[in-house]
Amino acid sequence: MTRRLQIAIDGTAGVGKTTIGQMLAKVLACPYLDTGAMYRAVSLLVLRTGTLPSNVPEMERLAQNLNFEARDATSQEAADGRQYTVLVDGEDVSQAIRDPQVENIVSQVAAIPEVRVALVQKQREMAERAGTIIMIGRDIASVVLPDAELKIFLDASPEVRALRRNRQTGNGEEQARRNLEQRDKLDSQRVASPLVVAPGAIVIDTDNLNPEQVLERVKAEIAKILD
Ligand code: DC
Repeated sequence: MTRRLQIAIDGTAGVGKTTIGQMLAKVLACPYLDTGAMYRAVSLLVLRTGTLPSNVPEMERLAQNLNFEARDATSQEAADGRQYTVLVDGEDVSQAIRDPQVENIVSQVAAIPEVRVALVQKQREMAERAGTIIMIGRDIASVVLPDAELKIFLDASPEVRALRRNRQTGNGEEQARRNLEQRDKLDSQRVASPLVVAPGAIVIDTDNLNPEQVLERVKAEIAKILD
């Protein structure tokens, strides 16, 4: 594909953004970036360095110096259920960034404007280098890539999302639902880049759609652009 095509996929937690992003990346043979993994990576470094949440300059430094790489998982790596492999300073942290300790602080870390500015800059640089890219997150269409050719907002009811998340984690549906509700609340209420449907975004309610059907909807939107 010669023409630049930036695709922003935003949405609530556990809605299946990564699954759709990965499927679409295969179809378009282009890279995808799950920006949530970057906020998780900074959170992991915050825990490992014992940085206090009140130490904003240090948080900002960790985000600015984040040496982050994401790539497809090898078949051996995928055996642990990961969707892709994340490296920080060359270390495989794919499991560590999903730990409950990270889960507990990531919304708090993502709410710090200085952290967001640093990561958004990295995300834009990655998009610039890639040309065509699928970027997944909460603020991609509203902040990171406001000129993206296609903006998709995926949504689903809390019940359906808890069911999907529980299939990934196996920690129980009730637990999954409580975690997702808490995360949605924090993501939507934060002052810096709250989760919003950006102007021009196409909202897809995925409650009654399987991933293949969501993919078809997105592909139909791409076809309209390329027409
Ligand atoms: O998508 P996820 O569960 O891996 O996201 C982890 C956290 O990072 C979640 O609290 C939302 C936040 N996040 C964000 O604020 N902005 C993004 N672009 C992506 C994720």
